[in-house]
Amino acid sequence: MHLPRGLVMSKKDRFKDQVVLITGASSGIGRATALEFAKEGAKTVLVSRSEEKLQQVADEIRGFNQNVLVIPTDVSSVEQVGSMVQKVIAEYGRVDILFNNAGSSYVGRIDEENFVENTKKMMDVDYFGTIYLTKEVLPIMKNQGSGHIMNMSSVVGRKAFPHFGGYSSAMHAISAFTDSLRQELAGTGINVSIIHPALTQTPLLEHVKPEDMPPPFRRLTPLSVESVAKAVIEGVYYNQARIIVPFQPRLLFIADSISPRLGDLVVRGLSNKIFSRLLGTYRGKLYHEYKY
Ligand SMILES: NC(=O)c1ccc[n+]([C@@H]2O[C@H](COP(=O)([O-])OP(=O)(O)OC[C@H]3O[C@@H](n4cnc5c(N)ncnc54)[C@H](OP(=O)(O)O)[C@@H]3O)[C@@H](O)[C@H]2O)c1
Repeated sequence: MHLPRGLVMSKKDRFKDQVVLITGASSGIGRATALEFAKEGAKTVLVSRSEEKLQQVADEIRGFNQNVLVIPTDVSSVEQVGSMVQKVIAEYGRVDILFNNAGSSYVGRIDEENFVENTKKMMDVDYFGTIYLTKEVLPIMKNQGSGHIMNMSSVVGRKAFPHFGGYSSAMHAISAFTDSLRQELAGTGINVSIIHPALTQTPLLEHVKPEDMPPPFRRLTPLSVESVAKAVIEGVYYNQARIIVPFQPRLLFIADSISPRLGDLVVRGLSNKIFSRLLGTYRGKLYHEYKY
């Protein structure tokens, strides 16, 4: 009898000795995902700019798994990305899973002074960072004949929110790139996934005043980083092409595919307390009420 993969292996063995490269691993979703992969036996490579923060995450991992590598890198620098991947190969000789997660986020309307500058920054880090990593790692995975690339987008990478035009554009760009990549790599043994989480409890938007948040976020209870990390890991294990967490944004995407104005109406509804309560996206606590 053929059992589903999840029933064959115990959870702690699923990624044993697999080399998992995670960008943005010093904080938030990246940190939580690195911890989860390491708990399941993976050899993790932690990448972000801050060596100090990465070492703290590595110390946590070393409490139960010695196979962890810290390589401070700015993912918007093609040179730094190239030399980081060389170091990974020198140490581990392969890359089994790449999680392109590093990102920055700015809120602002089109007519705000820094809109263009901030949008360029997000494209450089979130979008081009994803492309630089993918281009460096792909030949390695092709040589191996196997691998998995998981890209981070957002709910706003499928339906934009007002005051979030720059960030939503970067997230849509990642979504389109991933869609194309998955089809280009079909049959190569390299799997490609994308995850679109809703607002998550991380320091990403800490710098934004509550009243300046995109209107739907003013009534959203954020997801935990653990729930998003779990979705990433299950998404890799079961090779899910597109992961949306939680389920409610699917309703928004369906509404938007019927008519953009219907989609806009749902977006507006999200900033309404009663509508958000009924939908289950507001559960009594808001983003700025959490402490880090
Ligand atoms: N939080 C949310 O609501 C949410 C929802 C959907 C999607 N996302 C996406 O999830 C990803 C992770 O964000 P998060 O929420 O976990 O935020 P976070 O806690 O602020 O983490 C962002 C990570 O990206 C790294 N980073 C930023 N710029 C970088 C650069 N130039 N080069 C290398 N690393 C860089 C940061 O580390 P250093 O500062 O050390 O470089 C940090 O580790 C982002 O792509 C974000 O767009 C977040």
